[in-house]
Amino acid sequence: MKKIIIAFIIPLLIGTFAFAYSDITFTNENEPAGLFLTWKDDPYTTMVIDYHTKPGYQGSSALQYRVKGAKKWIPASGSNFPYPHHDRTIHRIALNKLKAGKTYEFTLDGFTRIYSFKTLPKGKKKPVRFAIGGDTMHQKAWMDSTNRAAMVYDPDFIVWGGDLAYANGSPDNIGRWDDWFQSIMETLIHPDGRVVPILVGIGNHEVQRKPEDYVANDANRLRYAPFYYSLFAFPGQPGYGVIDFGRYMSFVFLDTDHTNPIDGVQTEWLKETLEARSKTLHIIPVYHVPGYPSNRSYDGGTQTRVREHFVPLFEAHRVKMAFENHDHTYKRTHPLKEGKVVGNGEGIVYLGDGSWGVKPRNTNEAWYLARRESLHQCIIVTIEGKSIDMKMVSKEGEVFDSYKIDL
Ligand SMILES: [Fe+2]
Ligand SMILES: [Fe+2]
Repeated sequence: MKKIIIAFIIPLLIGTFAFAYSDITFTNENEPAGLFLTWKDDPYTTMVIDYHTKPGYQGSSALQYRVKGAKKWIPASGSNFPYPHHDRTIHRIALNKLKAGKTYEFTLDGFTRIYSFKTLPKGKKKPVRFAIGGDTMHQKAWMDSTNRAAMVYDPDFIVWGGDLAYANGSPDNIGRWDDWFQSIMETLIHPDGRVVPILVGIGNHEVQRKPEDYVANDANRLRYAPFYYSLFAFPGQPGYGVIDFGRYMSFVFLDTDHTNPIDGVQTEWLKETLEARSKTLHIIPVYHVPGYPSNRSYDGGTQTRVREHFVPLFEAHRVKMAFENHDHTYKRTHPLKEGKVVGNGEGIVYLGDGSWGVKPRNTNEAWYLARRESLHQCIIVTIEGKSIDMKMVSKEGEVFDSYKIDL
């Protein structure tokens, strides 16, 4: 009997153990080191899934996805490339030909957690809600708090207009990006695994100090803002871009003198981009340095160039609200047109000023400011047909201002 046990049962047990052990070896962990969703194309039918892995990751840049409740998983693969100045790897997978208004589940190769996302529903009658702001992280705890305050409103996505991790494009500050992605993992994924997509623009704190003779080209943009151009699928080169929700709504992300000059090529692009969207109902510019500052000087060079080059194009193309950042306050201007205060719906309201997760600064009184505060905040924007409803929410969750625009 003893011989039988040694001959058959013990090898069987060892084999079972070895199988289980190899299973553990080849399954990394529950979750990757970083995960976020964004778009570079139509938000109704596409999604870009980025995840970051540590050395030793044994999977490939691949995932499985399905409409929630469907039986079959569909495989999808993408590409991977080095995370600049880090031992991590960036994996990027673009999903296309999705159905609008659906919930999709996905699992990443080598990880066990099941995540999900929603594609936006088509149709102007369906409300769309986003949280918007900028200057996200002096301290991770502040970013976490404002993220959580925004998530109470169940936004479809989140928009940040620059000054993200405050890494200044420097390898020395790589840990700041780790914290930034950690904050997203901890606060922008619902307990049921639904991930809220983000759209980001560029700010001065994405960029290293540039030389006097800086020339804006692909190589220099990547060199001076290595993280921004590598970590985010959108806007990618040349650093500004547009996301169209059909003809309902378009977000225009601009670069306020960070890796591209405001005037010249970028302003020409803006003109053509707005002209091509003459039938789009809501045009929403997002950029970092404010044309109508709440802390800095009205006459500052970049602020003045925003007003000289961007604002006339916004005014010529029926823009009703523009989102600015960089001053680390809350501000809402009066509706403005041609440098004057006009009535609601007749001009453009400039909102934001970037105090999502940075130390708030004092505000200055100015003829164009309708409301100014020194606090951490985000703006919750709900668009339904021609109506725009905004709630301004502090990081503690208090609604401290609100504004409505009807086109
Ligand atoms: Fe800034
Ligand atoms: Fe900032």
